[in-house]
Amino acid sequence: MLSAKKSIQDIPVYQPGKSLEEVKRELGLENVIKLASNENPFGCSSKVWESLMNVKDQFHLYPEDDAPLLRQKLAESLEIDERRLVFGNGSDEVIQMIARAYLEPGTESVMAVPTFPRYETATRIEGAKKVEIPLKNGTHDLEAMLQAVNDQTRVIWVCNPNNPSGTFVNHEALSSFLDRLPDHVLVVLDEAYVEYVTDDTFPDSLSLLDYNPRIVVLRTFSKIYGLASFRAGYGIAHPDVIQQLSRVREPFNLNRLAQSATLAAVEDETFVVYCRNQNRLGLKQVMNQLDEWNISYFPSQANFLLIDTGFNADEAFQYLLKRGVIVRSGNALGFPTYLRVTIGKKEENEAFLAGLHGFLQEKQSRITI
Ligand SMILES: Cc1ncc(COP(=O)(O)O)c(C=O)c1O
Repeated sequence: MLSAKKSIQDIPVYQPGKSLEEVKRELGLENVIKLASNENPFGCSSKVWESLMNVKDQFHLYPEDDAPLLRQKLAESLEIDERRLVFGNGSDEVIQMIARAYLEPGTESVMAVPTFPRYETATRIEGAKKVEIPLKNGTHDLEAMLQAVNDQTRVIWVCNPNNPSGTFVNHEALSSFLDRLPDHVLVVLDEAYVEYVTDDTFPDSLSLLDYNPRIVVLRTFSKIYGLASFRAGYGIAHPDVIQQLSRVREPFNLNRLAQSATLAAVEDETFVVYCRNQNRLGLKQVMNQLDEWNISYFPSQANFLLIDTGFNADEAFQYLLKRGVIVRSGNALGFPTYLRVTIGKKEENEAFLAGLHGFLQEKQSRITI
């Protein structure tokens, strides 16, 4: 009988947030706001379109395999050696490459719970054991993660800021944690939201990486750069680690359009600064209202907030969905009364807050406005 490998049998198929198109179709709504996947509500740099026109006559050709122009530009802007970069079809693919290169049956990988779910999936696909350490006050419990390390541990995933909580571990805590880890463990610092961070105690991961060759820093073009469609992410690590990851990388994995778009995006720092500032304003707008209503949430350094509605999160999700606001129910994320909402433009945040208010009122909420 035909059977796929044992390690994947219980792995659920990834469930993305509902798409705009799907909700419009299903509910017959014209105006739908998507605040479910931490995308950038301001789109992307205006320079991206022009960059795509530059490659329009080359669609029939494979791209350059090692993305040399992007590599050079990014290395320059991060002030690192070009050999320290590896690109992926989204940072999702770099996560897969790390698991492929470092995990196998008999090994273990340590991660927080809840955190970004692809670490778990990648671990299981390789037949390795996942070791999950619950968040403490919504934040990675680094001490417990350290204690979970044994001779079989190969990879530790630290999502910073953490998705879905938005919380972060600071430089001091992280560097003390790294100092105490044994040599056979690779630490992945997933910084998908780092460009949104404004707290100056946030780790300077590139300086940590400089003295510790067992770190991979993950970044993405899907969030503040607004290029989720192109699927482009990257890892920064010691050239020896990069070499191992390159062995398992698919050829031409960063497609021609993505190489061109990301290069233009890196060159437009003004857009990134604009989006970071707008996100801060949006966070304040939502947090101020939640504070007024006495609703708790985790402090966030990212472009989303995890909010405790006090009621069944799936019901809150459905209520908002019917009114054209797509968010993420915390139910599947391990927070059954919470919603994770992406910070949108001012009017999108207003629509979310109005919907949340309606839901809470309907549930005979404890708040009065
Ligand atoms: C923490 C984290 N890491 C990685 C990713 C994947 O990003 P990409 O689009 O680059 O695959 C996401 C996407 O939501 C994320 O939240």
